Amino acid sequence: ASGCKIGPSILNSDLANLGAECLRMLDSGADYLHLDVMDGHFVPNITFGHPVVESLQKQLGQDPFFDMHMMVSRPEQWVKPMAVAGANQYTFHLEATENPGALIKDIRENGMKVGLAIKPGTTVEYLAPWANQTDMALVMTVEPGFGGQKFMEDMMPKVHWLRTQFPSLDIEVDGGVGPDTIHKCAEAGANMIVSGSAIMRSDDPRSVINLLRNACSE
Ligand code: DX5
Ligand code: ZN
Repeated sequence: ASGCKIGPSILNSDLANLGAECLRMLDSGADYLHLDVMDGHFVPNITFGHPVVESLQKQLGQDPFFDMHMMVSRPEQWVKPMAVAGANQYTFHLEATENPGALIKDIRENGMKVGLAIKPGTTVEYLAPWANQTDMALVMTVEPGFGGQKFMEDMMPKVHWLRTQFPSLDIEVDGGVGPDTIHKCAEAGANMIVSGSAIMRSDDPRSVINLLRNACSE
């Protein structure tokens, strides 16, 4: 795949300096920012919500693209607040809603792009009926909840299947993606690459971002 976009996940960054960390990523060449929202219910961890997104939007002068990864129960609840706060894409988990169709419609009506995420245990056939109505499919490559986990290579058939069925769909991978695992993702057909600790822990985030991006066009 060529034309990959790299979206650093700031989950494992210095959250007390979130604005500065986001700027550091944008200055290092990030194509977008992947913001992990966790509610302590859908996943066993808590991060932040729309008030923080609003503050970031005000602070970051470079018009960044915010991909909101909503690891929350009842994702219906936060569509409008996130849109008002400045979110560009609302990526919700199919496991968290009974009515994906209504939620997709609501996200669009609020002016955001739509992302559909599935956990490792969810089959990709479950996503397929909605793929034509969505901008992006997120295939999780770890159990959602924490950064720094091991990449699950056995998720690659899901990516490959989606790429085959929906050639123009944006497909994102998230969890354990870095220089050691990017080639498998690119080969399977992912074109939106989330990477957290691999970028955050590096002294030279720009070179890691470039490496990930280049791996996609090899
Ligand atoms: C996990 C999050 C990921 C995670 C990625 O629940 O959705 O975005 O922070 O971090 P790494 O790349 O460290 O797995
Ligand atoms: Zn994420």
